[in-house]
Amino acid sequence: MDTVLLTGAASGIGRATAWRLAREGRRCVLVDRNAEALHALLTALRTALRPEGAALDHLARVADLTDPDQIHALADGLPPLDAIINNAGMTDASNLPAVDQADDNWQRLLDLNLHAPARLLRALHGRLTRHARIVNVASGAGLRAIPMRGAYSPSKAGLIAQTQALAQAHPELRVSVLCPGFVQTDLVDGLIASGRLDPVRAVAKIPLGRLAAPDEIACALAFLASDDAVLVSGGRLSVDGGSSVFGGSQAYAPSAIAPAPCDTPLSLTVHGHWPALHSTEVRDGDDAVIDATVEVRDGYDAVIDATVLNSPPGGRLAATLAAARRHGSRDAPGSLTLLLPRAADTDWEHAGDDAAARMLVATLACEWGPRARRINAVEVASAEPNPALSPLLRFVAGAQAQYLTGQTLCSR
Ligand code: NAI
Repeated sequence: MDTVLLTGAASGIGRATAWRLAREGRRCVLVDRNAEALHALLTALRTALRPEGAALDHLARVADLTDPDQIHALADGLPPLDAIINNAGMTDASNLPAVDQADDNWQRLLDLNLHAPARLLRALHGRLTRHARIVNVASGAGLRAIPMRGAYSPSKAGLIAQTQALAQAHPELRVSVLCPGFVQTDLVDGLIASGRLDPVRAVAKIPLGRLAAPDEIACALAFLASDDAVLVSGGRLSVDGGSSVFGGSQAYAPSAIAPAPCDTPLSLTVHGHWPALHSTEVRDGDDAVIDATVEVRDGYDAVIDATVLNSPPGGRLAATLAAARRHGSRDAPGSLTLLLPRAADTDWEHAGDDAAARMLVATLACEWGPRARRINAVEVASAEPNPALSPLLRFVAGAQAQYLTGQTLCSR
C-alpha cells in the first residue's frame, strides 16, 4: 500500500487531497496544527471508507510546522513513506508593506512556507522508500509578485527554486512543485471576507473564468505524488485556469460552465501516430493517419494530437495552428493536448519557430478559455511512442486536469 504524508491536511486543498488519496486506496499520514479539525477528518475518512476497507490505518499527527523541534519529532513511529506532500502554508493577513512587517510574522511565514518542507525532508529522509515522491505546493504568487502579502510571494518563489535544486541534488527522489492559481478555500474566503481579494477582479484575469475547486488541485497533487508522474519529475506544474499565460487587458466574465466531476471518464480521440494510447487505427483517404479511440461516449471530450511531433523543424508553428483549426471549433468543454519535441533538442535556427508554437498554445488557451476548452502541450523526448507517457497524457487531457490550460509540460 502506498503511504503518503500530507501536511496542512485539515482544511482546503489538504482536506480535499486527503479524501482523494484515501479514495484511491492510499494510506495517509495527515499532519496539521489544528488538532480538532485533523481528528474530525480522520474520523470522517475512517467512517466513510470503512466498507471498502481502505481507510482503517490512516494516521494523524498534530504538529506546528513552524517549530523545527515538532518537525523533528514527527519521524517517531512513522511507517515507511512513499510520498510527502508539503501543502501546509499561510498567507499574511496584516496588510502592511513588506518593509513594515513585524519580524516574527515575517519569520513565521517563511518558516512554514519555505523552511518546513526542507526541515521535514531532513527529518523524514530515513523513512522514505526508494524513489519516494516529494511534492511541494507553491503558488502562482511565486512566479508573479503579489504586493501587501508580506513574505508570501518571496516564500513561494523560494520554494519553487528549492524544489528544482532538490531535484538536481537528489535524482533518486521524484520531486515536483505545484503552482495553483486561486482556489476556493478558507484561505481565499478569508482574503475575500477581509476585502483584500475582489473575486470578480480575480476571475477577470483567468481565461477559464472561475476559481479552482479544491478537488481540482487535489487531483493534481494525487497525480504528482504517484508513480504515474515519473516523467515530469523535477518539473513545475501551474494549475491556474490559464492565468499565468494571460497577458491581455480584456476582462474575462465569470464562467457559466460548471466543471465536470473530476472522475468523469475520457472520450478520447488520438490524432497522428501515437499507438501507445489506443488500440483502434483508422486511416483516412490520403497519407495522413488518424488513429481514433472513443473509450466512452459522452465522457470528457479529449483529443491528443501527435502531428506537431512529426512535423519538420521550422514547421511546428504551422502544425500547431493546423491542429488548433482541426479541433478547436468544438463547442463542448474539453481539451486538446499536443505532443511537441523537446525545446532543448532544437537547433538555434528553428528555436524561434518552436517557441512561437508554445506561445500559440498559450494564446489559444486564452481565446478558448471562456468555452471551457483547454489546450496544453507535452514535450516528449522521442517521436517513438512511449507507453510510459500514457498516464501523463491521460491526466493532462482528462477531467482531473480541468483547471490546467495554456501550459507546456516537459517530460523526461
Ligand atoms: P487553508 O488555510 O485552507 O489550509 C491550510 C492548512 O494548513 C490548515 O489546515 C492549517 O491548519 C494548516 N496550517 C497552517 N499553519 C500551520 C502550521 N504552522 N503547522 C501545521 N499546519 C498548519 O489553505 P489552502 O488554501 O488549502 O492552501 C494550501 C496550500 O496551497 C498553501 O501552501 C497555500 O499557500 C497554497 N495555495 C493556495 C491557494 C489558494 O488560492 N487557496 C493558491 C495557491 C497556493
